[in-house]
Amino acid sequence: MKMVMATKNTHKIVEMRALLEGLDMEVLSEADVDLDIEVEETGETFEENSLIKAKSVMECTGLPAVADDSGLCVTALGGGPGVYSARYGGEGLTDKGRYELVLQNLKGQLDRSAKFVSVITACFPNGKVITARGECPGLITYTPRGDGDFGYDPIFLVPEKRKTFAEMTGEEKNAISHRGRAMAKFREELGEYLKEL
Ligand code: IMP
Repeated sequence: MKMVMATKNTHKIVEMRALLEGLDMEVLSEADVDLDIEVEETGETFEENSLIKAKSVMECTGLPAVADDSGLCVTALGGGPGVYSARYGGEGLTDKGRYELVLQNLKGQLDRSAKFVSVITACFPNGKVITARGECPGLITYTPRGDGDFGYDPIFLVPEKRKTFAEMTGEEKNAISHRGRAMAKFREELGEYLKEL
């Protein structure tokens, strides 16, 4: 079976292909099927946004489609930036600008609890929907730590590891991250569904 991944990010496609190895599922990029659409993420939850993306691509291509949506939820910011993680502070900011804004908005705040969330949704032309959610709880640091430069990694501390995401190797992070957890659940559920067909 073929499945289109709703993303312009080639890293996500490589990651999904590796994850689904061994299952009867070939992961195609939007370019592989000559698709070029901008889907507006108008949902208020990660579930809604990943469903909007997967459903749009499924409807445009007639093929099964998969999408993910993720972000950082900080308790003292009312769960924000949440689904707005990529756009926090406006379009003009860099990743560094965005995590500095989180630190600034948490100034004087003792509750540093937070979690990363990732939701993966697959939509099939027959109406079947598979959704998998992964979470990773942690704490927001007072200052950035580590060399990893993706998103909010330098300010997200995993207390049991005594490291921020930015101080971990890719392997260390994948083993406990929201995305790693969602991916593992997704593979399991997709495998079960493919057996039923
Ligand atoms: P999207 O799911 O590709 O829309 O990404 C959402 C945003 O959440 C990213 O642009 C990052 O700012 C943030 N984010 C999601 N996962 C991570 C992570 O593992 N580390 C750091 N930031 C992340």
